[in-house]
Amino acid sequence: MQQQGQMKRQRLSSEEDNLNDDSREFKAERRPPLTRSHKITRDETGKHQLLLVLTGSIAVMKAPELVNELYEKIGKERLTIKIVTTENAEKLCRIQRLEFEDLIYEDRDEWSMWRERGDPVLHIELRKWADSLLIAPLDANTMAKVANGLCDNLVTSIIRAWDLSKPCYFAPAMNTHMWENPLTMQHRNVLKSQLKFKEICPIQKELICGDAGVGAMASIGTIVSLIAALVKDQQAIRSIADKA
Ligand SMILES: Cc1cc2nc3c(=O)[nH]c(=O)nc-3n(C[C@H](O)[C@H](O)[C@H](O)COP(=O)(O)O)c2cc1C
Repeated sequence: MQQQGQMKRQRLSSEEDNLNDDSREFKAERRPPLTRSHKITRDETGKHQLLLVLTGSIAVMKAPELVNELYEKIGKERLTIKIVTTENAEKLCRIQRLEFEDLIYEDRDEWSMWRERGDPVLHIELRKWADSLLIAPLDANTMAKVANGLCDNLVTSIIRAWDLSKPCYFAPAMNTHMWENPLTMQHRNVLKSQLKFKEICPIQKELICGDAGVGAMASIGTIVSLIAALVKDQQAIRSIADKA
C-alpha cells in the first residue's frame, strides 16, 4: 500500500517535471512586448495595407502559406500585410512553431504600448493603418463575440472599431458540429447582414479532429483570389481618383 502511494507520487512528480519543461520552452520562445516607441505608419507609395487577423482555430497552421501566397500573387510592391493574433491563436502558432517574417501583434502589446495620453492605442492605430481586414481563420468563439459586440482583446477591439465603409472578409473555420449549430447561423447573419462583412465559406473535408463535413477553412487559393481582386479594384479606383 505504502509502495503504491510512493509509486503514484513518483509518477505525478515526473509528469509535473514534463509539464514544467514544456511550459519553460513555451515561455522562452516569446518575444518581449512592444513599447510606446513602436510606430505604425501608413505607406505613402500607394500599397494596399491588409490587416490579417488570426483566431484560435487549427487552421492558423495555414497562415504562413496564406501570407506567402498573398505576396506571391499580388506582389510586395502592391501589398503590405500586418498580422494580429488572439492569445489562443498565438499559442497555436507557437506550439506549431510557425514562422512569419514580420512582427505579429498580440494582446499584451496593446497594454505595453500605452502609458499616458498621447501614446498609441494599438487597436486604433492598426484600424487606421488598414485599408482592408481579412479574418482567416475566424473561429466560433471570436465570431460569437463579434456578433454580440464584445471587444475584450486586441482582435475584437479592432473589429469593433472597424470603419464599416472599408472591406472586411472573414473565413470561418470550425468543427462541423460547431458550424451546424444554429447559433453559428445567427452569428454569421449578423456579420454579413448588419456589418456587411463578406464571408469566404468553409469547405467540406475530413477535419483534424477526425470529423468529416463542412467547417474547414476555405482553400488558400480561394482566399488569395478574393483579396487579389479587391486590391486590383481598389488600386484602379485610386488611380482614377488620382487622375481626376
Ligand atoms: C488544437 C485546437 C484546435 C482548435 N481548433 C478550433 C477550430 O478550428 N475552430 C474553432 O472554432 N475553435 C477551435 N478551437 C477552440 C478555440 O481555440 C477556443 O474556442 C478558443 O477559446 C478561441 O479563442 P479566440 O477566439 O480568442 O482565439 C481549437 C482549440 C484547440 C486547442
